[in-house]
Amino acid sequence: MQWWRDAVVYQVYVRSFSDSDGDGVGDLEGIRSRLGYLELLGVDALSLTPFCTSPMVDHGYDVADPRAVDPVFGDLDTFDALVADAHRHGLRVTIILVPNHTSNEHEWFRAALESAPGSPERARYHFQPGRGTDGSTPPNDWTSEFGGPAWTRVQDPDGGAGEWYLHLFAPEQPDLNWTNPEVWADLEKTLRFWLDRGVDGFRIDVAHGMCKPADLTGSAPEVRFDHDDVHDVHRMIRAVLDHYPGRMIVGEISVGDDARFARYVRPDELHLGFHLRLARAPFEADAVRAAIEGSLAAVAAVEATPTWTLSSHDVPRPVTRYGGGPAGVARARAMALVGLALPGAVHLYNGEELGLPDAELPDAVRQDPVRDRSGPTRPGRDGCRVPLPWEGGPPGYGFTDGDPWLPMPDAYGRLTVAEQLEDTTSTLSLIRRALELRKTHPAFTGRGIEWYGAPDGCLAFRRDGSTLVCALNASAEPVPLPPGDVLLTSGPLVDGDLPPDTAAWLV
Ligand code: GLC
Repeated sequence: MQWWRDAVVYQVYVRSFSDSDGDGVGDLEGIRSRLGYLELLGVDALSLTPFCTSPMVDHGYDVADPRAVDPVFGDLDTFDALVADAHRHGLRVTIILVPNHTSNEHEWFRAALESAPGSPERARYHFQPGRGTDGSTPPNDWTSEFGGPAWTRVQDPDGGAGEWYLHLFAPEQPDLNWTNPEVWADLEKTLRFWLDRGVDGFRIDVAHGMCKPADLTGSAPEVRFDHDDVHDVHRMIRAVLDHYPGRMIVGEISVGDDARFARYVRPDELHLGFHLRLARAPFEADAVRAAIEGSLAAVAAVEATPTWTLSSHDVPRPVTRYGGGPAGVARARAMALVGLALPGAVHLYNGEELGLPDAELPDAVRQDPVRDRSGPTRPGRDGCRVPLPWEGGPPGYGFTDGDPWLPMPDAYGRLTVAEQLEDTTSTLSLIRRALELRKTHPAFTGRGIEWYGAPDGCLAFRRDGSTLVCALNASAEPVPLPPGDVLLTSGPLVDGDLPPDTAAWLV
């Protein structure tokens, strides 16, 4: 059953969704208590960010044990109860796997540090001697995605300066060596562990990572990602999933080239792949259209299903990206209708349905390692990770009875779920209505789109074999609507015209 082909998947940033025990950090029990809300919202599936045992240097993307729940989030019994309850609510549950690296507190990495160069323990990671007579220069010039060199030097068990290990992200996230059969076997074990517990699928973090060139020394080419061998890993993952009917796998694939991207969603690899192409496009008709066209062409070449996302825990929220204030909100609402009108799967990031802006945070409370590692030349990703406002007032707005792990801005008080449920013009009401139409209206068919001519700064497309038209006005002037009956608009029409920063669905 290919439920994922047109699913709306809701990404839960577990730390920030709902806190059941007052420690200020969201948890699995908190998610369980909000399933009614997610059913009401009308999404099909949840995608949980990492909740496994972790020292939380990168908030769970540094996994110390991929088959255990971190106590801050709950335990396996709570996880099982969450899956069972979600299924009763008609919601599927998918989880995120992080196969590119482990935490430096994973038992394998600890064992590697205690073992000698050349040992089997070190062979699960990428350890290399340094360059220069005293080995004090890293093995190659690779940089980390978070800033600084991608190598850190360790002390040998005898206390002397030792080898270097590779980490494409933080030093606390050593990269696994994907030429090692033990690494493959362990991922397979993790996949089966969660599949047997009833999860409906996985999102693969850094799905374009994992495999590295055979020679990582001095002259190593700058191919840190998208190595050809990674496709064998995805084929293994897919082969495991194929034993579990109805389960889905989606990759986070940061590969700019459309043809290279398409390789990840070939028939024997991942079911879905998303990149942040639409999320990175500015609010300009040409840029939005190019992102859509590129994504559609890429998946069409391999007969795969497109996946759309405007938002994630890694990028500023749409409201902020599109300029903030009332215009930012209007544009985010308009782009939500564009994304939801397209054929394929859609990923919503929690809080997107509330039209939340990024929170402005004082440096002292920021936690993302990107900030420190980059100099700081980048602010880090905390602004889009602030907890969700559910109801009431500060400091926790119903997210927590304690103090939220990141402070929640005053502006969130007007954007709580409770307030927005009461307001038919709220962003939450718009998204609920859009999801309902998407699920129930017969015009949401067809696997491709046809572009319509549109005034400058605007775009319009029709779903193949259907009467559904989506029009977006990203220009500064009102424009006439395409012909048809209006099904939904992201904001009020003005004298029957589509005003700037607004989208409409027509049939
Ligand atoms: C991915 C995640 C990001 C994380 C990184 C390292 O890019 O989306 O949040 O920091 O991988 O695991």
